[in-house]
Amino acid sequence: MSDTSSNQMWGGRFSAGPDAIMEAINASIGFDQRMAAQDIAGSRAHAAMLGATGIVKPSDVEAIRKGLLTVLSEIETGRFEFSTALEDIHMNVEARLTEIIGDPAGRLHTARSRNDQVATDFRLWVRDQLDAADAGLQALMKALVTQAEAGADWVMPGFTHLQTAQPVTWGHHMLAYVEMFARDLSRVRDARARMNESPLGAAALAGTSFPIDREMTAQALGFDRPMSNSLDAVSDRDFALEFLGAASICAMHLSRLAEELVIWSSAQFRFVTLSDRFSTGSSIMPQKKNPDAAELIRAKIGRIFGANVALMTVMKGLPLAYSKDMQEDKEQVFDAADNLMLALAAMEGMVKDMAANRDSLEAAASSGFSTATDLADWLVRALDMPFRQAHHVTGALVALAEGKGCDLPDLTLADMQGVHDEITEEVFGVLGVHNSVASRTSYGGTSPVRVREQVARWQEVLG
Ligand code: ARG
Repeated sequence: MSDTSSNQMWGGRFSAGPDAIMEAINASIGFDQRMAAQDIAGSRAHAAMLGATGIVKPSDVEAIRKGLLTVLSEIETGRFEFSTALEDIHMNVEARLTEIIGDPAGRLHTARSRNDQVATDFRLWVRDQLDAADAGLQALMKALVTQAEAGADWVMPGFTHLQTAQPVTWGHHMLAYVEMFARDLSRVRDARARMNESPLGAAALAGTSFPIDREMTAQALGFDRPMSNSLDAVSDRDFALEFLGAASICAMHLSRLAEELVIWSSAQFRFVTLSDRFSTGSSIMPQKKNPDAAELIRAKIGRIFGANVALMTVMKGLPLAYSKDMQEDKEQVFDAADNLMLALAAMEGMVKDMAANRDSLEAAASSGFSTATDLADWLVRALDMPFRQAHHVTGALVALAEGKGCDLPDLTLADMQGVHDEITEEVFGVLGVHNSVASRTSYGGTSPVRVREQVARWQEVLG
């Protein structure tokens, strides 16, 4: 980074350059250089509008346009020298433009402020991230639907309190996550629709006396319309907070799936085998294969939610309009976005590669009296017993089986009739785990029939 002693952007009022510490706390170029492409796109749209409205003469606009393209290519090819003394990406770009094209560069900032400039750049950057999250979520959902289709009728234990509750199908479990990520996707799309308005032309805070055309710049940058209040336009960071909010909930969902993968891949469960591509070994214990990617995804919620809390706290209590506090928005969002995209991609890779161990799933599903509810339901249906009584009778049968060290289907008819004499042979038809899941055909239920319907629906939605 190069250094200059006086500031060419506002040097007129100042007799001394900033203290080194002032420069260090003030500069954002170390991180906001990530918005270079957005900054130049915003400047190009602004310059074209200044030309079209006759505010700046065509030859100057053309010089600015060409100069900005040169600056962009210097940045893209790593030849640009960023300067801390020039504080941020906006001033770095403009200073370099001045070096390249001279005087006409000074006209670019007509009817504009860094306040509407940074609001525009950051909106464009966050909009790209919403689009990336959209794509990442869809890819992950597809991977889960593929798993669901393959194992639509594989049985596994369904848990509540992490205690065996009732058998469910593997496909049903995979599709539960598809539903969660679909809601995340819809939050991302809502946020994008709401944030897609242009702050450009709000100038410092009050608008401008120049006859600018805000519709034109909004359209050039792919925004639906200009924001309708200049004070709000320069001081709003809701769009970043909505991104962080949606990202936080998505990261929370990712952490739940990650946690299940950690448990399922353990030697005690063996529900899934994770691929070598997404596992690591231990330097001391040769037998180990660790689910590091899942653990790291599980942990990412920490920084993503942290960013959400941090930016909420930065924005809380800020008076209108722009305050320098708002420069603290970017690093949080950059870090959260980087980690969300990485987590989505890693989860997609893990889900695609993982192999569900059908036999272990079925063996686990069959243990822990997982069909006790089916037995109670049968007593209600076949013997017209009130459910509360059926629950009680079933409880006694579970206790009997537990005492004998066997599972419910292993009890003899005589054992059962000892507890309730009207029980018939027919009861054994509902006790197997396959019978159990096949019977749960209520809408949204776990039966393979319902799961296949939902798989087909998601395949249609995801294309
Ligand atoms: N680097 C600043 C930011 O990120 C740009 C806006 C500066 N505006 C100002 N009035 N100092 O917020």
